[in-house]
This record gives sequence, structure tokens and C-alpha cells, in this order.
Amino acid sequence: MPEDVGRPGASVRPEPGARSSDPGRARIAVLLSGRGSNFVALAGACARGEVPGEIVLVVSNRADAPGLERARERGIAAVAIPGKGIPREEHEARVVAALEEARAEWVCLAGYMRLLSQAFIDRFPRRILNIHPALLPSFPGLEAQHQAWEYGVKVSGCTVHLVDGGCDTGPIVLQRAVSVREDDSPDTLAARILEQEHVAYPTALRWLLTRAWRIDGRRVVFD
Ligand code: GRF
Repeated sequence: MPEDVGRPGASVRPEPGARSSDPGRARIAVLLSGRGSNFVALAGACARGEVPGEIVLVVSNRADAPGLERARERGIAAVAIPGKGIPREEHEARVVAALEEARAEWVCLAGYMRLLSQAFIDRFPRRILNIHPALLPSFPGLEAQHQAWEYGVKVSGCTVHLVDGGCDTGPIVLQRAVSVREDDSPDTLAARILEQEHVAYPTALRWLLTRAWRIDGRRVVFD
């Protein structure tokens, strides 16, 4: 048996298409900074058995993030690891230590307002996901729904992608489209995109945990 079995990240293997060490129940951590509605969607899908995983920890860089309370209400461990005023490496080291203690295998970013360093990403190769409220590669970065509305696109949506060192640049797992209506404001558009996010994120995670997949260039390919 390889010596890292049973340690944090033991199933985090570099080879494409590898599945979780326990295909029955992947250990998932969620990182968030705000309200946590995507966390709630993921937690619900896990609880209903739609995603074969368990959220073992929620981490926020903001102590006042409502998502922390939403996790605790569900009996899920939740910790604030404030990032303000400390160097990024130190903050990340604390977050990684918490993830390792929880033996997290997958990391889902859900409104986590910090970029991850390459060192962090390398701890969980191909096991960090993010959800973005636009159809990437259009409108990366902040306030994507507002960017899309202002640009005048007729279709926007959301993207679940694997995280790489860039800002919203990693390989795309799944996208869901949303039509922009003539009478939309940025807020009404964002609300309809959010509904689709809550479908997209659990679906993408389920696919990655239950299907064989590989990365071919930039493409995530499900065999
Ligand atoms: C979502 O719109 C997500 O796409 C973006 O941040 C927002 C988080 O919302 N990355 P919530 O905290 O999950 O409700």
C-alpha cells in the first residue's frame, strides 16, 4: 500500500481521470467568503445522495460570512481563517492545514474571494473546482453578471471549472446558459444565473466523482 494512503490528499493523484479513493463518499471542503448559497446547493445534493460525497469542512476567509452559519446549522464543521493583514503564504498555509486535518480530498470554491497560489493548487492537483457566474472565457473576474449585462450579450450563464493558476482560466467541466431578457437588470440576470449555478455545481461534481474523465489540452473529456 502506498505510504500516503489515509493521509490528507491521498486520493489526490496526478493522473488524469483518477477517481476519489473512496468512490462511495469523497471528502469535500468548501471555501467561501459570503452568503454560501452554492455551498447549500452542494450540501443538499450530498445529503440527498445525488453527489457521492460528504462536505467535511467549510472555510471562510471572512469571519462574518453567512455561509459559515449555514454550514453550522447543518452540522458541518465551519471555520473562519481571516486573511486580512497576514501574508498570503501564511494564510494559505493555515487553510491547507485545516483541509489536511479534515482529510479533504476535493476543494470546492464557492464565492471564495481570494486567488490561490500555485503551491496551494499543487496540493490538490485536478481536485479544486470553482463556479463562475458567466460563460467563460467571457467575463472573468469580479461582477461577471454585471459585465455581461453591460456588454449587451443575449446569452450568459455559469461555468464550473477546474482551478489553475489564473483567474477563472482553468479547464471547463460544465456550463449552463441563461438568456438575457430585454427588461433584465444586472440583479435579475444574476438571480437567474444563480439558479443555474445551484444545478451546475452539484452536477459537475457528480460527474467528476462518478465518471471516468481526462484532460486533453484544455478540454475536460468524459469517456
Ligand atoms: C456566485 O455567483 C459564484 O458564481 C461566484 O460567487 C457567488 C457566490 O455566491 N463565484 P454564494 O456565496 O454561493 O451564494
